[in-house]
Amino acid sequence: MQAPAVLAGDAHPALARRVAELAGARLVPAAVSAFADGETRLRIEGEVRDADLYLVQPTSPPVNERLVALALLADAARAAGAARVTAVVPYFGYARQDVRKGPGEPRSAQVAARILECAGIDRLVALELHSPALEAAFRIPLVHLAADEAALPIIKAWRLPGLTVVSPDAGGMKRAQRYAGALGAPLAVVAKTRPQPDAAAATAVLGEVRGRQCLIVDDMASTGRTLAAAAEALRAAGAAAVHAFFVHAVMAPGALERIRAAGVQRIAATDSVAPQGESLERAEVAPLLARALAELAGH
Ligand code: R5P
Repeated sequence: MQAPAVLAGDAHPALARRVAELAGARLVPAAVSAFADGETRLRIEGEVRDADLYLVQPTSPPVNERLVALALLADAARAAGAARVTAVVPYFGYARQDVRKGPGEPRSAQVAARILECAGIDRLVALELHSPALEAAFRIPLVHLAADEAALPIIKAWRLPGLTVVSPDAGGMKRAQRYAGALGAPLAVVAKTRPQPDAAAATAVLGEVRGRQCLIVDDMASTGRTLAAAAEALRAAGAAAVHAFFVHAVMAPGALERIRAAGVQRIAATDSVAPQGESLERAEVAPLLARALAELAGH
């Protein structure tokens, strides 16, 4: 097998370039476009025969297009003779649909995992999947990274006195607990309900937040409604200020404005999803991914 090479999908070529640079790996570009009927058309524009290939492609919006391009790139790499294909998917779309929410609904995360396996992907590197339980959806080896190492320096640099770390819902408690431990801060949690898809309502705040600088940590912001609801509840409970760090800045239209309108002061995320021009402080995930690549190469 040859030295590792990084294949850049269309979702985040800048991240692929940076990972290749940090890992000292060759970068292989790909041209991805669409046929007139909407089908994805692509070509790998470099040699991948016998390569130990790392295909960088977050499946961020438009999720279906990115997922299909990832599967087709894997197949193209296989057909071109790549010795092994490892998908590096720092944001994994459909991860929130890992269990049937009601009768007649699919397990979309499992279906997305099967699609990648069928396309010839041998291993997956993911960053902060929505739930660790999702690891069970993959039958191929999975390296599941946490983003704490990228996030904590930004949060520490904010130097927030009287800090309380807050999970915006019960599902995020473990992550918030880790950050609270690393920052030496107490923990609080907001009780959240989803009255309908893509809506969020905060029903209670558990923990002492009055007069505190509250930092909400979450895996992602899509509509921003989870963060906005949590921020409003914290302010109503007497928080001195509210700030937010989330790993994946998926950012549906209007999300950042919604979060700011809820009174969130400092906002940062990682660059796991390609920035769309939002003015957000960003933590770089390429060093984490490049290190994972270096550890995997040759194994
Ligand atoms: C939910 O369980 C997740 O951890 C996030 O809190 C949520 O998916 C964020 O979505 P939105 O920004 O649309 O509320």
